Amino acid sequence: ARPDALPRDLEGLHVVVSAGGTREPLDPVRWLGNRSSGKQGYALARTAAQRGARVTLVSAHTQALPEPAGVEVVHVGTAAQLREAVHLAAESADVVVMAAAVADFRPVDRADFKIKKSDRDPDPIALTRNPDVLAELVETRRGVAGSRQVIVGFAAETGSGGPDGADVLDLARAKLARKGCDLLVVNAVGEGKAFETEDNAGWLLGADGTESPIELGSKAKLATEVWDAVGHLRLRCGD
Ligand code: CTP
Ligand code: CA
Repeated sequence: ARPDALPRDLEGLHVVVSAGGTREPLDPVRWLGNRSSGKQGYALARTAAQRGARVTLVSAHTQALPEPAGVEVVHVGTAAQLREAVHLAAESADVVVMAAAVADFRPVDRADFKIKKSDRDPDPIALTRNPDVLAELVETRRGVAGSRQVIVGFAAETGSGGPDGADVLDLARAKLARKGCDLLVVNAVGEGKAFETEDNAGWLLGADGTESPIELGSKAKLATEVWDAVGHLRLRCGD
């Protein structure tokens, strides 16, 4: 849709979107990372700005993407940096959308100098858990300007081999319950789906039990559906 054809229904709201994939350094030239392109998060930020929101985009590593117009972009590298930036921005946010692929683990040690090879096999890489930013947001959520902050999570699932994606949905339902966020956007990934592609499909799961399919389409279309759902949630909360 043309920006001037979009509703201005997010006017007056501060929304925070995280995007891209974090990188956990092993040494000055190597990292553990993931294949997130950042496209879905950037589409969410762009659409929110077009609909009138003040937008803070906390951007981890992405493909080369243009900065969306009218959006404040905070660049981060590691999960720890993303966590700090998201919590800071969330203090004044009406809505937080965690579209970033945050590393679950980081190396226990980060070498100050490039790790050199030798004649013997390398030591295994010891990993430790990163904090779950989404779970922390739910934990510390507060009302902003008299209304409850809306928190949206993303889940990329490959399933574990079940037919027709049913397995993906089951995993996602359990994840929504575990995370305690208001909405969970579920993408089926793997085999050329979602990561590094232009299109997304999946389900939108609500904490109230609502489940709606997201038909295959552009990441901008998915962004529109997410903001529509956030709008409905805020209306139902009597805002
Ligand atoms: N997330 C987060 N902090 C982390 C890991 C994930 O905030 N350390 C957020 C993601 O941004 C996403 C949601 O949690 O919005 C779900 O991420 P996902 O990786 O699907 O879930 P996990 O709980 O990490 O479970 P798993 O990777 O084992 O499926
Ligand atoms: Ca994870």
